[in-house]
Amino acid sequence: MPDPLSRTYSPETWNVYDRLDVSLDPGGPDTLLDLAAEYLTGTPRILDAGCRDAAHLIELVTRHDATGVAADPVAVHIGWAREKVAEAGLSQQIEIFHGLAEDLPRPAAGFDLIWCRDVLEQVADLDAFTRALARLLAPGGRVIAYTSVVTELLEPGEAAMLRHHMGNVHENLHEPRLLDAFTAAGLTVERRVSIGTEWREWAEERTRPVSESLLRLSRLRRRREEIIAEHGLEIYLHAEANLHWLPYQFLGKLEAVVYVLRG
Ligand SMILES: C[S@@+](CC[C@H](N)C(=O)[O-])C[C@H]1O[C@@H](n2cnc3c(N)ncnc32)[C@H](O)[C@@H]1O
Repeated sequence: MPDPLSRTYSPETWNVYDRLDVSLDPGGPDTLLDLAAEYLTGTPRILDAGCRDAAHLIELVTRHDATGVAADPVAVHIGWAREKVAEAGLSQQIEIFHGLAEDLPRPAAGFDLIWCRDVLEQVADLDAFTRALARLLAPGGRVIAYTSVVTELLEPGEAAMLRHHMGNVHENLHEPRLLDAFTAAGLTVERRVSIGTEWREWAEERTRPVSESLLRLSRLRRRREEIIAEHGLEIYLHAEANLHWLPYQFLGKLEAVVYVLRG
């Protein structure tokens, strides 16, 4: 048996890294659009609950000859959504609502698909939100909810650091809390798809966003005093937490997951 140092530098060990330089051909974020397509027939009505710039709703409406409503409470996001929808020439097909999805003034059962991508993490009143989704969903319709949940790999100190994220509601990152809210609203989990690290691998193989997060994080910490003096501690701690989001998904401390829900 060779000594440990010789083994460390032996081809037997070293060649493992060569294997890891080969892509596993991970799926990217478009897989969520493909998943939605499995549930869309005819001329569906789609709600994008938490639309940001409505980019995903525009794609869904275009692909499926659908109509839709894009809802978001943040004014700047609604401004972007209006611009993008107009640019896409879809102002007749897509209505924009500035407000919480739970305040959308629409009759019950008005949507065949509710697209809820990366939103559950941020919803202040999760029970009111899930109740609204259940109310708005047409019989036979589906909610497609993509979010991230904490795993047992997240250490207590890391969880405490993530709590400084100003946009997130930390309790919503706990899967049992989400499942309770779905059940209380009368929504059933039909499918749970674990995305795991696939979208992260896909993106890293193209534009290296995790590498960028880590570079920014190291610069943030080296400029800590100056950034706190100019922007305040709260912003500093938020940026620190936010810059851990993608790396923690990559490390499996946060699990990216999709729930397909029925009423
Ligand atoms: C991380 S962004 C994701 C945006 C977009 N769905 C995407 O995947 O790019 C979360 C969005 O959810 C919105 N949001 C948070 N709470 C909401 C609520 N109760 N109703 C509707 N949108 C909400 C935020 O304003 C924000 O635009």
